Amino acid sequence: MPDHAHTILNTLQSNETGSIQRWMDWLRIPSVSTDPKFRDETRKAGKWIADQFAALGFDCKLVETGKIGKDGKGEGHPIVLATIDAAPGYKGPHVLFYGHYDVQPPDPLNLWDSAPFEPVLRPAKAGEEGGERVVARGAVDDKGQVMTFLEACRAWKQVAGHPTNGAKYTLLIEGEEESGSANLAQFVKDYKKQLDACDVCLVSDTGMLGRAKPAITYGVRGIAYTQVTLHASNQDLHSGLWGGRCPNPITELARVLAQLHDKKRRVTIPGFYDDVVPLTKKERDNWKKLKFNSKAALKKIGLGAAADIGEAGYTAMEREWGRPTAEINGIWGGYIGEGAKTVIPAHASAKVSFRLVANQNPHKITKQFFNWCKKHTPPGCKWELTDLHGGFGVTVPIDSPHLAAASSALKRASGKSPDLIKSGGSIPVAGMLKDILGIDTIFMGFGLDDDRVHSPNEKFELACFRLGCKAHAMFIDEVTK
Ligand code: BES
Ligand code: MN
Ligand code: MN
Repeated sequence: MPDHAHTILNTLQSNETGSIQRWMDWLRIPSVSTDPKFRDETRKAGKWIADQFAALGFDCKLVETGKIGKDGKGEGHPIVLATIDAAPGYKGPHVLFYGHYDVQPPDPLNLWDSAPFEPVLRPAKAGEEGGERVVARGAVDDKGQVMTFLEACRAWKQVAGHPTNGAKYTLLIEGEEESGSANLAQFVKDYKKQLDACDVCLVSDTGMLGRAKPAITYGVRGIAYTQVTLHASNQDLHSGLWGGRCPNPITELARVLAQLHDKKRRVTIPGFYDDVVPLTKKERDNWKKLKFNSKAALKKIGLGAAADIGEAGYTAMEREWGRPTAEINGIWGGYIGEGAKTVIPAHASAKVSFRLVANQNPHKITKQFFNWCKKHTPPGCKWELTDLHGGFGVTVPIDSPHLAAASSALKRASGKSPDLIKSGGSIPVAGMLKDILGIDTIFMGFGLDDDRVHSPNEKFELACFRLGCKAHAMFIDEVTK
């Protein structure tokens, strides 16, 4: 087999203007999976990426998810499933590439400097670090990162006539990651026979510790997401006539939720830590060597060193990567309009979620939390408790040959050995693949911690995009060597 590695890098470079155009075309499709208003657009974004891979020779289909209606469409968003045949005699791994084409809602809209679905390519502004970037919802999470793989395939197709240079790849690009991958486990079960052939999953949906600091993420946290409503009276009440005579559900909800953590900022739910795998000295030592500067990270988000708080006895990095947490993501009730209104509302609500470490079961945690709520029911009040979604965390072995291939691909793409890091974020697919197929996931991602994922002005820098394209191209070279 001829050595194409060098030509590939040149090809990626000469394709770049077109690559960015395509990336921006995809970003123009507002695929917000959580909002029913964007249903058709979300499907369009799935179809768009399927067409791209089909044009490179992949056999692509859209698989409907959720309950299928009369129109043949599912109630969920379709999954793009694509395959490419291996060259005869190919002996390397069968790689399952995973990404997601859905994005988070762009709100709050007034904080964007440019419209979220009108991507702009621009240099850094005064006060911003880094170089040229594309700004739009989904720029890095996850469209830009999926594009890095697509463009690597395009270059290989041009140079070697086959988009993965003869390697066996299956692609799974879903449209519900940002809404908790509700229909993905069913899909993996339905397609178990086909997916069982895959040896490893490769995901580009994570980040690095800094610019030009390539990284492999060997673990992500799980999540359990709930909504709780505390009901009191059957109607809103005049706070002068009723205040002091009956429960105010906002006050009572706040009192309950304030007890979620103790003085050491540990979660107080009985059994919460039962299944947690303690951090080992070795892991803690390895992480120390990464020289993560938590003060600098806090400063970037407008906080001082005093804000370095969380579960006692652990560093910021340990708290993010290796410890479970409880978070209140939203809380509401009563009057929040202009001016004053003297009211005691009938109910108050909160979104409460938990980040979990490997081995903790999201269903069990949700049950424990709901039991805890019931035990803390304020006098005269009633709970309405809703499980919104859950996903398992994973930690993957760092001595696998696939991880070694990713590591050497990153090294060839950047000249540097990648950091081995974890992330506090969640990507539900990994736990499902481990559980249903028994395969591990390698997270080779290219984001930065100031990319503003899920926030206004989300961006992905060209330098990171380029690194991603090269790394995927080199990974293909590694598996076909
Ligand atoms: N790509 C992110 C997760 C992520 C970001 C991992 C940065 C590592 C570094 C993913 O799209 C995401 O946002 N996941 C959600 C999961 C949820 C909605 C089930 C999360 O972590 O909140
Ligand atoms: Mn993502
Ligand atoms: Mn996300």
